[in-house]
Amino acid sequence: MSSCRHLAIIMDGNGRWAKAQGKPRTMGHLAGADNVRNIAIAANEAGVKYLTLYAFSTENWKRSEEEVGYLMKLPAYLFQKYMREFMERGFRIRTIGELDRLPAATAKVLRDAEEESKDNPGLNLIIAINYGSRREILLAARKYAEDVRDGRANDLEEDGFSSYLMTDGIPDVDFLIRTSGEQRISNYLLWQIAYAELMFVPESWPEFTPEVLNRCLDAYAHRDRRFGGVHES
Ligand code: FPP
Repeated sequence: MSSCRHLAIIMDGNGRWAKAQGKPRTMGHLAGADNVRNIAIAANEAGVKYLTLYAFSTENWKRSEEEVGYLMKLPAYLFQKYMREFMERGFRIRTIGELDRLPAATAKVLRDAEEESKDNPGLNLIIAINYGSRREILLAARKYAEDVRDGRANDLEEDGFSSYLMTDGIPDVDFLIRTSGEQRISNYLLWQIAYAELMFVPESWPEFTPEVLNRCLDAYAHRDRRFGGVHES
């Protein structure tokens, strides 16, 4: 049995879920934001310590101005509605992604939530926003090169390189779930998922209930993770 310390989720299918009900895509994103709260609570109760959710990728800027604008307001919606509960449950809010390139108000809401919860001991709820893994790796390589040039670093091991990533201090992903049937990684945590177990479920993100999550975690617990080695038993 392996326990899942770090769970990452690609929250896909909000738009299709809304359309199937004759609603605008934005209503899917709103339902998706409410589901962030439900799944964070369920993951915490299941013993997950790090939950990383893909809220907005560096490629998502290609969507309509209306949809991007709507997505940028969701952090404020989420934290206004649920921050008190997150604090009571001891969740620590963190972000990965380039916040400087977000609308100032969106970045502020996220930074305020990080600051307010920074001493909390519980679930690390990590929002990936304006995040792209190739960009993350590129920025890390650039910073490393500067550090070598200026004499602050020399030969790196894998652990040392990890500390240049936006996930510095966060353990590698154990389990990655993508909702809504697509079987792609979409530039998400490429370094961090090197040995992760992967699962692709048909439910869209708004339909991904705590029951579905628990089913996935049960299946994960029965997988045999060998990290490239063999088991002795
Ligand atoms: C993909 O579904 C989902 C997104 C691009 C946005 C995910 C955002 C949320 C779930 C909202 C929560 C975020 C925060 C910060 C609180 P899609 O709309 O691309 O689905 P489709 O493939 O059906 O069009």
